Amino acid sequence: MPVFPRLVALYERRGYEITTGLFPPHFGNWRDVAFTWLLRDGQASTRNLGIAQQELYFLECLLAGWRPPNIFIIGNSFGWSTLALALMSPRSRVIAIDACFTADTNAGMVLTNLIAQEERLNARALRGVSPRDVPQMVSEQLGGAIDLALIDGNHTNASAIEDFQAVKPFLRPGAIVLFHDVQTFNLFDAMKEVVRMSGWSGQLLLGTPSGMVALFDRKALPPGVQETLKAYAPTSGAIKALQADLARRKEEAAARKAKAGA
Ligand SMILES: C[S@@+](CC[C@H](N)C(=O)[O-])C[C@H]1O[C@@H](n2cnc3c(N)ncnc32)[C@H](O)[C@@H]1O
Repeated sequence: MPVFPRLVALYERRGYEITTGLFPPHFGNWRDVAFTWLLRDGQASTRNLGIAQQELYFLECLLAGWRPPNIFIIGNSFGWSTLALALMSPRSRVIAIDACFTADTNAGMVLTNLIAQEERLNARALRGVSPRDVPQMVSEQLGGAIDLALIDGNHTNASAIEDFQAVKPFLRPGAIVLFHDVQTFNLFDAMKEVVRMSGWSGQLLLGTPSGMVALFDRKALPPGVQETLKAYAPTSGAIKALQADLARRKEEAAARKAKAGA
């Protein structure tokens, strides 16, 4: 069975409700409705949302032909991406860290580890602040090697660079680093910097709702990964064509309105 319904069931069996992938135009163009919400007794249990449903499918595609032994995540919240990756790639060791600055992320960490333990998933969430605690966590928990990193902690340019600097010494050849929310939080300055620091390629994935960026070494791409990245990265020509179409529609609508008012 695909991972999404299994993942939802993990939370539902413990009394939670999940909503994810809702379509913003149906909710007054509320951006965050597309991401993953954890609810209990009719109330949101956290403000730190999980990755969107489309992003889950992106990860599932990415991992269809590639089994990275070690996965490291900065930003666990309630464990949505942590448990998702553990379900998608059962032979991988998944370690997530979270600063747990708030009560909801603390509770989210307890829930993540409870589910991982009860379901016998190879995943663990640990309290730790990036960049400070990354070297120790990666050394102790992953033997000092990372094959896939998901950076989804504090969404500023400075933090994205610091998070990358923290994981960089541990990246194995062929590793991929995913940055969540690059488009949403305008983290493009950080992306220029991490590309410069690594000498690798950065690919914006506009097919993911948060506008993720994948950073990778073109000469060492794991099997199937290039096809997945390409599928989630519409060409600039396609984007320009859609933007021109949108501008035309707006002009036509304005002209119709002006005519009706005349
Ligand atoms: C958007 S949430 C992560 C969502 C998660 N990746 C998922 O999809 O399920 C961001 C998390 O990053 C954590 N965080 C923020 N700054 C951090 C830091 N410097 N080190 C570790 N965690 C941090 C927050 O506590 C929050 O839980």
